[in-house]
Amino acid sequence: MNTNATQQEPSVGPTTGWWTEAVIYQIYPRSFADSDGDGIGDLPGITARLDHLVELGADAIWLSPFYPSPQADAGYDVADYRDVDPLFGRLADADRLIAEAHARGLRMIVDLVPNHTSSAHRWFAAALPAGPGSPERSRYVFRDGLGPDGDRPPNDWRSVFGGPAWTRVTEPDGRPGQWYLHLFDPGQPDLNWDNPQVRAEFLDVLRFWLDRGVDGFRVDVAHGLIKQADLADWQEPQQILSGNEVDKPRPPMWDQDGVHEIYREWRRLLDEYDGERVLVAEAWVEPAERLARYVRPDEMHQAFNFEYLLASWTAAAQYAVITRSLEATDTVGAPTTWVLSNHDVVRHASRLGLPIGTPKPNGIGIGDAQPNATLGLRRARAASLLMLALPGSAYLFQGEELGLPEHMTLADEARQDPTWERSGHTERGRDGCRVPIPWEADAPSYGFGPTDASWLPQPAMWAEYALDRQRGVPGSTYELYRTALRLRHEHGLGRGSLYWLSAGDEVLSFRNAEVSVLTNFGAAAVPLPAGVEVLHASAPLDDDAVPSDVTVWFRTA
Ligand code: GLC
Ligand code: MG
Repeated sequence: MNTNATQQEPSVGPTTGWWTEAVIYQIYPRSFADSDGDGIGDLPGITARLDHLVELGADAIWLSPFYPSPQADAGYDVADYRDVDPLFGRLADADRLIAEAHARGLRMIVDLVPNHTSSAHRWFAAALPAGPGSPERSRYVFRDGLGPDGDRPPNDWRSVFGGPAWTRVTEPDGRPGQWYLHLFDPGQPDLNWDNPQVRAEFLDVLRFWLDRGVDGFRVDVAHGLIKQADLADWQEPQQILSGNEVDKPRPPMWDQDGVHEIYREWRRLLDEYDGERVLVAEAWVEPAERLARYVRPDEMHQAFNFEYLLASWTAAAQYAVITRSLEATDTVGAPTTWVLSNHDVVRHASRLGLPIGTPKPNGIGIGDAQPNATLGLRRARAASLLMLALPGSAYLFQGEELGLPEHMTLADEARQDPTWERSGHTERGRDGCRVPIPWEADAPSYGFGPTDASWLPQPAMWAEYALDRQRGVPGSTYELYRTALRLRHEHGLGRGSLYWLSAGDEVLSFRNAEVSVLTNFGAAAVPLPAGVEVLHASAPLDDDAVPSDVTVWFRTA
């Protein structure tokens, strides 16, 4: 179990398995490494860079979508769940990547996008000509519009990317017709999970990739598959985070109870396979008790801890979220997970440079208030070192081990996230965290690929973050992560238990296994206990005192 507080009455035994303590590294294929010089990362590029992950000390990879797709939402609009987009390679390249990862002891989790297909999927292409009331349309959520001419959408739901969540189609006879639901882009029609064909199809897709050897699935928008049957209006602004406070009604499109039986069925399927195959929920669900329902013993194995990602950089907020997270997952016997960055949020090296209490920004661009870059990186390093000492599993996003900031001066014309257009240019969106990785300071595209091409322009200052400028350099962010992962492994921190040593207004301190951890959130330096052995620190100490915004790992003699 994770906490001392709840040790007396565990509801189920502690779970074991590689995933309970793994460090899982997220690869965003279009931005990791480009083998053919077209400016878009690809699967052979990833395979060629696998040794980086071994050197870093990661245990597993989560690969964002690489399936055939019109790329309306960077691949989260899947046209064929059983193949590879030519942009990224061929199916044989996926097989090779899985085999090469396994040969290095790295597990491989792939992304599964079950809430919606692409509008280019053969099912959607068949639904349009088949017309209202057809079995083909019943795989999606088609409805007649409101008003005498049906020219008003069936309800008031908004798309997460902005604009209405409904698009009207033209019927085969050329007249304006029904509307279809898309909680995201119009190129991402929502599937109807009450249709048994949809359920059968995804069981088969799971088998397809399990048979190819993947170790699990990260399940996209896991809280969205079932909608409240009456599709009731929801007057609130649409957000992917359902914001379910216990006493507030749940939004009719998120976290409906019906999703759980889907995951129980998937779990039974995974359990038929050998090895330890896992399901990870991307579920923007609050509070932690609701999220814990996704990781009950017969459902998924893990869920991303977005409450942790969203917590402010204060001792009180961090104490509260860590405690709540451990308690909530303890009640269902699941391991806790931790995450600070991914392909949907402003990178934490920049986010933490914003004034404390700033609401989660949806991208940062020219003309927006710019974070304090130095402070952001300093806090990001302290936050990462704090996170990597916590029991449970940790998710890293490619580039955070280099201390990469968000690209915050990206020209708006270069933006590709549908959010920018659909929000009427009010939300900049997620491109700034998706810029291709700098590997070599002096190479074209900083070593991202063999040419200068890069699907999003890389900032000129990227050279100083390049891997080859940090490798072997004491104090670099890369070496900070590498040492942290090595020590985390040596001391078994991922499978340890957390004991609070102190939780004040400015300082948090806990022990996990034989490692003690202290983070100073205050302005004044805090002395370490006398006679301790410092194992690791996110910045140089000030004699034996821990300066502001620094995390230190130490051992008492
Ligand atoms: C998830 C993905 C995000 C995508 C959305 C729709 O939130 O992480 O990138 O846009 O689902 O598939
Ligand atoms: Mg390429």
